[in-house]
Amino acid sequence: MSLWTPDSWKGFPLQQDVPYDDEAGLAAVERKLESLPPLVTSWEVEKLKGLVADAQADKRFLLQGGDCAETLADCRPENIANKLKILLQMSLVLVHGGKKPVIRVGRFAGQYAKPRSSPEEERDGVRLPSYFGDLVNGADFTKEARRADPRAMLNAYMHSAMTLNFIRSLTAGGFADLHHPEQWDLAFLSRAELSAEVRAEYTNMSRTLAEAVRFMEALGERTVDQLTRVEFFTSHEGLNLRYESAQTRKVPRRKGYYDLTTHMPWIGERTRAEGGAHVEFFRGIANTVGVKLGPKVAPDEALRLFERLDPENTPGKIVAITRMGRANVETSLPPLVEAIRREGRRVLFVCDPMHGNTKSTASGLKTRDFGDILSEVESTFDVLEASGGHLGGVHFELTGEDVTECTGGGLREADLDKNYVSVCDPRLNYRQALEMAFLIARRLAKRRSSVPPPPEDSEARPRG
Ligand code: PEP
Ligand code: CO
Repeated sequence: MSLWTPDSWKGFPLQQDVPYDDEAGLAAVERKLESLPPLVTSWEVEKLKGLVADAQADKRFLLQGGDCAETLADCRPENIANKLKILLQMSLVLVHGGKKPVIRVGRFAGQYAKPRSSPEEERDGVRLPSYFGDLVNGADFTKEARRADPRAMLNAYMHSAMTLNFIRSLTAGGFADLHHPEQWDLAFLSRAELSAEVRAEYTNMSRTLAEAVRFMEALGERTVDQLTRVEFFTSHEGLNLRYESAQTRKVPRRKGYYDLTTHMPWIGERTRAEGGAHVEFFRGIANTVGVKLGPKVAPDEALRLFERLDPENTPGKIVAITRMGRANVETSLPPLVEAIRREGRRVLFVCDPMHGNTKSTASGLKTRDFGDILSEVESTFDVLEASGGHLGGVHFELTGEDVTECTGGGLREADLDKNYVSVCDPRLNYRQALEMAFLIARRLAKRRSSVPPPPEDSEARPRG
């Protein structure tokens, strides 16, 4: 295999390329990004890898969620706090149902680059480059806004840093103190139009949780501190390789290179081609890597991709994010799961039930239906369990705001106009996301009661 460097991807075909017309400006921004501090550290990246390895062994469950496209304009305190709250609340619901720790991974602090189905967009006879996310150009339909501006990378880096700084401060400063769930959840709960049933279920659950924490403390368990510390990891699609590679570096006393823009970058469905620049870049980094897999992926192709990204079959390295679409799961997923099982490949299966279930309304709005989303999650659980494996996590496009972008869970198609604000794909709103978490938690609880616990280490048990 050819020698890998953070720049070796430049010798491979680059999908979703965005031409920059200012070479000198681009080079200056890349040098600047190389010199700035990393957004995350290799310690955190390795920590996450360890947790994902646990999830591969069915000892943890992963929850990944956030906007389809973050925007610079949305880098506001209430917005970030609401996103944390919904992810935190969903994770508590999942912990309660599954009785195992949940790894929380946001699609935030860097989800600023978007793949597009066409490089150009036409409106009223005018053709301009498509909007590729705030990391690349602007959403306004003007020539100036749509020009790929290298300085947008620096701006996105800074907004990622500010977002992350706020997230770290909130989580370190007791925002998510599990001793007092009432302090952070009730005001939020009363704002949303939750059904009485969900409200009661959530309130009961958080009370039980607080009691459990106090009980553990009364027992003097040393693990309580760990138990109550809430961690968030970050992720984004590693689409703009100029940005990713400029922040990819070696760190003292560790082998290999780390992409320090985020803990867990992922390769999108549109950029995972064998022989392409993205796979070349991703094969050289030490991070846990997500790989989106749609219904057209051939099992052999997926195996070759994993082999290229992780020839050593490293625990915690590969997260296979399947996004088959409700209608395809039962045909497309089993052969993939079977091939992975046959080869003894270590992957964590995570279900993204959003991207295979997008449709348009008669008026042209992109939407997704709650029932379709849930159905894909359910079928993915079924397929994996039937093969003797397990679904290790879920991936949602969601927001902590009361938007109206997906139907179901209280919204009809006629309601979509009320507060449709996504600049990209439709997201679950607060209520839909929390209801979804309860339904998944029920499924996890059912599974828990039907699966016998793993046998204890017989050597450790007294004989006779
Ligand atoms: C996304 O996650 O927003 C996305 C574009 O997904 P995919 O690559 O699976 O289409
Ligand atoms: Co999306």
